[in-house]
Amino acid sequence: MIYIGSDHGGFELKNEIVEYVKNTLKLEIKDMGCWSKDAVDYPDIAKVVADEVIKNNSFGILICGTGIGISIAANKINGIRCALCSSEYSAMMTKKHNDANILALGGRTTGVEIAKSIVKIFFETEFEGGRHSQRVKKIALLENN
Ligand code: RB5
Repeated sequence: MIYIGSDHGGFELKNEIVEYVKNTLKLEIKDMGCWSKDAVDYPDIAKVVADEVIKNNSFGILICGTGIGISIAANKINGIRCALCSSEYSAMMTKKHNDANILALGGRTTGVEIAKSIVKIFFETEFEGGRHSQRVKKIALLENN
């Protein structure tokens, strides 16, 4: 299961991505809100999605206006490696090298079709492991357990 959430700045892109993941990628996706263009605080959405990702050892997508605030917030949660991507290359590399478990997108900065390609590559790419495993473990050591 993929968990997705956005604030009002990412609301429209979120709805497009939910349909794309369901209908084109044929993956299961659960929408965790928000539910309208009414303003909400992106850290609240980041927490709801990040908690599900950790609990279910799964993946997430987070979207705010720029993708910046919501990715900063998600990365405060132990076990989350949230990558803000605006290119397919970044999406591929953050899975291969960083074992990213949440993809962040900017609803006001990334077009719908580019965002779909980024999402596709993110879910098609696997973590490479090997020398990257020790680096990812060192990220976890930076967490305040
Ligand atoms: C909300 O206006 C906006 O600040 C938010 O969506 C995001 O871009 C923050 O980083």
